[in-house]
Amino acid sequence: MAIIRWGLLSTANINRAVIPAIRASSRGDLVAVASRSLESANTYARRWEIPMAYGSYEAMLESDQIDAVYIGLPNHLHAEWSIKALRAGKHVLCEKPLAPTVEEVNRMAAASQETGGYLAEAFMYLHHPQTRVVKEFVQSGKLGELCVVRGVFNFALRARDNIRLVPEYGGGCLWDVGVYPLSFAQMVYGAPPEEVFGYQWLGESGVDETFTGQMRYTGGGLAQITSSFRSPWFTRVEVIGTEGRLVLNRPFVRMEENRRLTFHPKDGDPQELDVPDEFLYQGEVEDLHRVVLDNATPHLPLAESRNHILTATCLYLSARENRPVGLNR
Ligand SMILES: NC(=O)c1ccc[n+]([C@@H]2O[C@H](COP(=O)([O-])OP(=O)(O)OC[C@H]3O[C@@H](n4cnc5c(N)ncnc54)[C@H](OP(=O)(O)O)[C@@H]3O)[C@@H](O)[C@H]2O)c1
Repeated sequence: MAIIRWGLLSTANINRAVIPAIRASSRGDLVAVASRSLESANTYARRWEIPMAYGSYEAMLESDQIDAVYIGLPNHLHAEWSIKALRAGKHVLCEKPLAPTVEEVNRMAAASQETGGYLAEAFMYLHHPQTRVVKEFVQSGKLGELCVVRGVFNFALRARDNIRLVPEYGGGCLWDVGVYPLSFAQMVYGAPPEEVFGYQWLGESGVDETFTGQMRYTGGGLAQITSSFRSPWFTRVEVIGTEGRLVLNRPFVRMEENRRLTFHPKDGDPQELDVPDEFLYQGEVEDLHRVVLDNATPHLPLAESRNHILTATCLYLSARENRPVGLNR
């Protein structure tokens, strides 16, 4: 098997980001799409020039023409369909967050272990060269001792019928965009926090439409994260150390728009760091190809994804109960 034959499990909006990545790869072939209705699958397949269309997710999973599926379902369906796909002998690239509970992630990981199928959280920015440059820069010690990671991901969610506003679907801004700065802080500190405190502003539907979180890491490093559906689009990350600050104006998305990665040393002028250009969604697709075809080590191990989910669930618990929550509770 020199090529991975991909199927899209649903006609989600986010497919449009992953389709070009599969098509740009010499090791991937987009062969199928499945939808809850055959009419929608056919329409989508025609529009995106995808050879095969299935009128149910089950039907696509039964096909022996597909090696890997991309899952862009609402969050509450990630576990169910990842496990079904793994049991059907497919590899799985599943959107972030992997699932809204740690228990579901554990079951997904167990299914991957049992079947030998690869399962990865589609956290595209963690695969981008900019994130690798940040990691190497932090490890170089030029920032000194790490003090605080501050990260923001906000956007104005206008459509009130969006899956992100449905509590039973795993809606909420922390699950949707707060997990970006949350995972960024985990990447920088190399581990999840020891303790968290969260505050949330709940909207009419009952999901958090603004969420702020404080995190404390082993060794004393801290993080502050903010996410919101209520304010204009804005992203930023600062990694603050005893010797200076690293500032990212496009840490997670829209990398192609005037991206800057700037080191502000304690003394001296700011320095721009070079980052190779790469399509934002390419890395996650190539990672699956490397793991499945070359037996390479995954770039984002499931244990790290599980810690994203553990941290987020502790933040939600903290916000509900108005108390600090330890991750080893
Ligand atoms: N990494 C990124 O850059 C990024 C960006 C955006 C979203 N995401 C993630 O991608 C996932 C999907 O987000 P999206 O905005 O693309 O979603 P979306 O456009 O609403 O699509 C979700 C798809 O799921 C299927 N579905 C199955 N059961 C459903 C139900 N009960 N209600 C609604 N849809 C249902 C539908 O496909 P069919 O009708 O074809 O069955 C629908 O098109 C989320 O997990 C989100 O966090 C990631």
